[in-house]
Amino acid sequence: MKSIEQLRETWRRDQVFDFVQPTPAFDKAIDTSHGPILYVEDVSVSFDGFKALNNLNLYIDDGELRCIIGPNGAGKTTMMDVITGKTKPDTGSIWFGQRIDLLKRAEHEIARGGIGRKFQKPTIFEALSVFENLELATASNKKVWYTLNHDLSGEQRDRIDEVLQQIGLTEHYQQEAGALSHGQKQWLEIGMLLVQNPRVLLVDEPVAGMTGEEVEHTAQLLTSLAGRHSVIVVEHDMAFVRSIARKVTVLHQGSVLAEGSMDQVQNDPRVIEVYLGE
Ligand SMILES: Nc1ncnc2c1ncn2[C@@H]1O[C@H](COP(=O)(O)OP(=O)(O)O)[C@@H](O)[C@H]1O
Ligand SMILES: [Mg+2]
Repeated sequence: MKSIEQLRETWRRDQVFDFVQPTPAFDKAIDTSHGPILYVEDVSVSFDGFKALNNLNLYIDDGELRCIIGPNGAGKTTMMDVITGKTKPDTGSIWFGQRIDLLKRAEHEIARGGIGRKFQKPTIFEALSVFENLELATASNKKVWYTLNHDLSGEQRDRIDEVLQQIGLTEHYQQEAGALSHGQKQWLEIGMLLVQNPRVLLVDEPVAGMTGEEVEHTAQLLTSLAGRHSVIVVEHDMAFVRSIARKVTVLHQGSVLAEGSMDQVQNDPRVIEVYLGE
């Protein structure tokens, strides 16, 4: 079994998670008085001359749940990479509210500033309990391992209890995370982001490999988060998308091909041609 030190290094290396909570100053500066919480404008990204994103424009409202669909290679993951600061675009701008220019921020600052990202493979600490995983994610400074030996504040404990309820793992809080089902591990990882109270949550293909029941629970979980968080979901499973969809954006060749309700995009001839008709 890996030591805690090794686990920490793995987690850090993947940069899936930053241990620092949103800094209040940053959070206060998020100004959504004129609408969107996220502005992606005319963003282009090239890899060896190939345009993975091509003048992408995307506006996410505060508290909305947005589904992003599109064929393989459409630029969905690259879109998440530019929002989270993993990839810097060649041109364009990305703003978090009206005041924060995300292109001037490093990836870790963006993560700690309130934009959480869940990657496809869960990266939880398998040897620790469900509760301990959430406890670590709550850590308010870089000395995470300090957290395990010290009491959480009442507020932090309440938040963990609330998140346990949301992700449906209250009864499993003492269970070793490695013994959870695939779906439960995915929810735990979402929970580890939620304890940090992100304003925006990016989720890449959350239901891949889940059982039907787990898919249903994930749909409930993500829809319940809207309002308090803005949630951006990239997913291939169209039945799942249909079950949670409000506004849907279809990406194709690095740009928005169509946007609207599920019915609107499903009946759009261009969408049928490039994607749904496959
Ligand atoms: N780091 C990279 N280097 C070179 N090409 C890349 C890189 N990342 C993505 N691409 C290319 O950009 C395109 C868009 O990829 P991606 O954003 O992963 O699409 P999606 O997630 O919609 O399937 C693909 O053609 C992919 O091969
Ligand atoms: Mg992808």
